[in-house]
Amino acid sequence: MTKFYLTTPLYYVNAAPHIGHSYTNIAADILARYKRKSGFDVLFLTGTDEHGQKVERSAIEAGLSPIEFAYQTVGKFKDLWQKLDISYNDFIRTTEGRHIKAVQKVLDILYKNGDIYEAKYEGWYCTPCETFWTEAGEDSPVCPDCKRKLEHISETNFFFKLSKYQDWLIDYFKAHPDFVLPSFRYNEALSFIMQNKLEDLCISRPKSRMNWGIEVPFSKEHVTYVWFDALLNYISAVGFENDQNKFKKFWPADVHFIGKDILRQHAIYWPIMLKALDLELPGRIIAHGWWLIGERHEKMSKSKGNVVDPIEMVEKFGVDSYRYFLLRDVPFGLDGTFSESSIIKRYNSDLANDLGNLVYRTLTMVDKYYSGNIPPCLNLAHNALIRKKLKELPQRIGQYMENLEFSSSLGAIWEVINLANKHVEETKPWNLAKENKHDELKDFIALLVEVIRGVAEELAPFMPETAEKIKAQFLADKAIKGAPLFPRIDVTK
Ligand code: MSP
Repeated sequence: MTKFYLTTPLYYVNAAPHIGHSYTNIAADILARYKRKSGFDVLFLTGTDEHGQKVERSAIEAGLSPIEFAYQTVGKFKDLWQKLDISYNDFIRTTEGRHIKAVQKVLDILYKNGDIYEAKYEGWYCTPCETFWTEAGEDSPVCPDCKRKLEHISETNFFFKLSKYQDWLIDYFKAHPDFVLPSFRYNEALSFIMQNKLEDLCISRPKSRMNWGIEVPFSKEHVTYVWFDALLNYISAVGFENDQNKFKKFWPADVHFIGKDILRQHAIYWPIMLKALDLELPGRIIAHGWWLIGERHEKMSKSKGNVVDPIEMVEKFGVDSYRYFLLRDVPFGLDGTFSESSIIKRYNSDLANDLGNLVYRTLTMVDKYYSGNIPPCLNLAHNALIRKKLKELPQRIGQYMENLEFSSSLGAIWEVINLANKHVEETKPWNLAKENKHDELKDFIALLVEVIRGVAEELAPFMPETAEKIKAQFLADKAIKGAPLFPRIDVTK
């Protein structure tokens, strides 16, 4: 079996998961399920990023040690993934032994090769962002990112030679035009590396300033910078340090799912780290957009009090409605605006009206006309257009999924659902029954059942619970009518 290895970012454990985190994992889950269904040996990795200043600070505020604090949040992430039907195969925490050993092994290799060197740094530093700023300007020392005051520091650290690999990376990008998706993100990354001189990356922090990290194996006074540590999860999880067979089988990753906010780390630091280790590069990096809130399209933040809890959404609308909304409403890669009213709109039109109605009315007819026995199809030429569309559906979805176009895949499924609904309205089956057109009625209903079965099959990666429910209602030759899948939400209530 061909392997397929896909990853999500590792989420910081400094705060509880919100809809943004759930978005990445749902998208990755859909691809994982899709690939499994297509016969791949899938390894779907997610996990948590537990070191660094942010986590240390939140732990102190909560009166806990960083690791105790991390355990609490890890529990919240795992609960959420279960509620959202995220079918991950492995969950890596950067505090695990397998990861720590891998990071130290990498540091040793790169230090011996001369790609990591020791140097004194003197300049500006943003403590909350854990970022060095060489061009801050003495009179305006605020962080260009978070706008908070910069600190002036002078310390010895270890640096990774990003600069040495700049030209190689430019060539690699040019030779691999679909290394980063969507293409506007590829262009963004490539123009960044072409227009800026890459500076070597400071990959350590003195313990005197921050000690919640992986100890640098060749310096007792330093821990590893959190990003350098975290990116390595993608190889530590597949056995870089402890399982060569597994590593050979699964590396390189086929797809890294990320948000647009962490493109630079994944499209610049990470490829160079791999190159320096003489390892292959991942197949693709897909950077999705952000979910913003309200009419002013604001970022979610604790201070604004606008953080949306995914568990609350699942409890209100159901897991599959939530999965459907996120992946249908916005083309993957662009930003979206999240609101309950837009979920309800999609729910009532696409789920209640289109899919739910098609299933329910078909079940009702099988019940009414054939006492629940699904009639055989007598004439395959019956509505050839729908059959053609249904037959083409897997291939169309295959093409969309190749480019991670989730919304278009769902759009293609809905085209078939809508054609079938239109067919019901035009055929007026109640008239066929009245006019005793028995063969036609049988063919008509058999076709609807065929459409529903095909749709359920294609929907399974996106809406696994719904697909199961539909399959349970349409057995080999019996239809078992249950409650409507998506009862309409009355907005006036
Ligand atoms: N720990 C780093 C990633 C290390 S990967 C080796 C990190 N963590 S994070 O928890 O801050 O965010 C991770 C990801 O969450 C983002 O890249 C993105 O995928 C997702 N999102 C966070 N907020 C988001 C939105 N508002 N909307 C959509 N996704 C966003 O960065």
